[in-house]
Amino acid sequence: MRLLITGSKGQLGQEFYRIKSLSKHKFLFTDYNHFNICSIDSINSYMSDKKVDCIINCAAYTDVRKAEVEREKAFDVNSNGVKNLVAYCEENNMKLIHFSTDYVYNGDTINPINEEEFVDPQNYYGFSKREGEKHIENSKSESIVIRTSWLYSKYGNNFVNTIINKSKTEENLKVINDQFGCPTYAKDLAIAVMQILDSKGRIDRKSKIFNFSNEGSTTWFNFAQKIMIIYGSNIKIEPVESEYFKDDVKRPKFTNTSKSKISQFFNLKINEWEISLNHYIKKDLK
Ligand SMILES: NC(=O)c1ccc[n+]([C@@H]2O[C@H](COP(=O)([O-])OP(=O)(O)OC[C@H]3O[C@@H](n4cnc5c(N)ncnc54)[C@H](OP(=O)(O)O)[C@@H]3O)[C@@H](O)[C@H]2O)c1
Repeated sequence: MRLLITGSKGQLGQEFYRIKSLSKHKFLFTDYNHFNICSIDSINSYMSDKKVDCIINCAAYTDVRKAEVEREKAFDVNSNGVKNLVAYCEENNMKLIHFSTDYVYNGDTINPINEEEFVDPQNYYGFSKREGEKHIENSKSESIVIRTSWLYSKYGNNFVNTIINKSKTEENLKVINDQFGCPTYAKDLAIAVMQILDSKGRIDRKSKIFNFSNEGSTTWFNFAQKIMIIYGSNIKIEPVESEYFKDDVKRPKFTNTSKSKISQFFNLKINEWEISLNHYIKKDLK
């Protein structure tokens, strides 16, 4: 297959670049300047001479805090952009793999959340991502949404890199201990997408939404502690409640997502979060 990666300068997009040689598929990588998902003209002009079988949409507006004020922009990328891709894929009989977030859930329950559960985004980023999902849910094309969470990689500003960088200059850190979620190593997600494309489980016209993260769940505090242990730093990490940081953006408290559906449907074996974190810090970060 010929795969088109949109938003390829982002952290997930760059992971696809890194793992491309492990796959038998051919890749085309595009960024905002060559393929703007919000512009139908940009999509048509890029696609005019390309034969693409599947779009993997890594383009997104991902700044949760800024999304509260730049609402139009967030909605344009996370909803209208997805709508444009869905329309193009339907017209041209192409597959589409899209990514969403655990922030579509309200986070009221500690129990593992499955995909059929109630969605109730608590902030504008989550709302805009949920609106994007709907275009895929309503589409007749072979398309799926993968809801991921707490993504990290070598590339970009993510929690793991932030904690490591702060540990070089600070002696102690305060980290939230009352939000639970599931870390995702972006490389594991990129590899899972390749396995999905190669699996017998079809990218269906019916079953559209799948959770994906590493297995297990944790709090930001426990995650930070684990990062420091693996990295070999002795800085002091203190647990605090969410209110400590006076963040105006509401975030879900518990998003322990169940990965049963995606692993059964596509026969995936998903790493525990500690194992992937260890691999990332000890091997891939070097
Ligand atoms: N990061 C997380 O913790 C997290 C958690 C849950 C879900 N997700 C989801 O996972 C997916 C990948 O996230 P990520 O962390 O890789 O995001 P990212 O690093 O922010 O990358 C997104 C990329 O999309 C580009 N982009 C923005 N608007 C565009 C447009 N109109 N057309 C084409 N490209 C555009 C961005 O370019 P600029 O940088 O130039 O704007 C950026 O390169 C997203 O769908 C995100 O919502 C992420």
